[in-house]
Amino acid sequence: MFARAVLAQGVGMALGAVALALTPPERPGRLGVALAVAAVGAAAVGRFALRQPPWWGPIHLLFLPAVVAASGAAVPPEVYPVGFLALLLVFWGTFRGDVPLYLSSSAVTEAVIALAAEARVASVADLGAGVGTVAVPLARRLPGVRVDAWERAPVPFLLCRVRARALGTRNVTVHAADFWQAPLGGFDLVFAFLSPVVMERLAAKVRAEMRPGTLFVSAAFECPGWVPERTLVLADRRETRVYVYRL
Ligand SMILES: C[S@@+](CC[C@H](N)C(=O)[O-])C[C@H]1O[C@@H](n2cnc3c(N)ncnc32)[C@H](O)[C@@H]1O
Repeated sequence: MFARAVLAQGVGMALGAVALALTPPERPGRLGVALAVAAVGAAAVGRFALRQPPWWGPIHLLFLPAVVAASGAAVPPEVYPVGFLALLLVFWGTFRGDVPLYLSSSAVTEAVIALAAEARVASVADLGAGVGTVAVPLARRLPGVRVDAWERAPVPFLLCRVRARALGTRNVTVHAADFWQAPLGGFDLVFAFLSPVVMERLAAKVRAEMRPGTLFVSAAFECPGWVPERTLVLADRRETRVYVYRL
């Protein structure tokens, strides 16, 4: 994944260099045009030729313009490694293809709590729990439910764990581990808010491991070829759809 990102940027820069060479030196805005060609070229090569997930598009579009802008700004040099480390600790596996961190709305949290309460589940797994937006309030509001949350990016993992401790929720366990290795056979409800890119693989795992009669709940993204038992349309800003699948 990282190699593909570097390759996309390399091709984008080559296209930008060609645009620069072909534009007469006296033409105003020459550098801006070359930068735009490089950024759009990198995003297009990443998405269409190298089949990178969609979230790489904005990264490619912003990367080179941000480098050029930062090189002209009076930014102390130590800001760059510190910023890089901070981003790495938050977005950890994204460069290898993990879904990055973005948070569920409170409406999603409420919907998952309501589904778990209605189905009287005893155990819930949250795959890619982020900072615990769903897992922690669910564990707090349903103290009789055992909640296992998987999150492998260091900062979100720590925040999820600290949040659970701070609220005194003893029925949630946060695993700093890959959710693809999580055994799902022991859970009554599994929740995920991930990306369309992983849904086919995730549905295959869920169907292979979860017990008949249990629930798989996916916020925003459908499982291709699997008809949900219910689809909730929430009144949040994104009008999130929550897909409820019965095994
Ligand atoms: C879109 S966020 C969802 C966060 C949270 N569940 C919510 O609804 O607000 C996806 C999260 O999954 C984590 N993640 C992605 N791939 C993972 C993997 N293979 N194992 C563990 N966590 C992963 C990311 O670090 C990120 O925090």
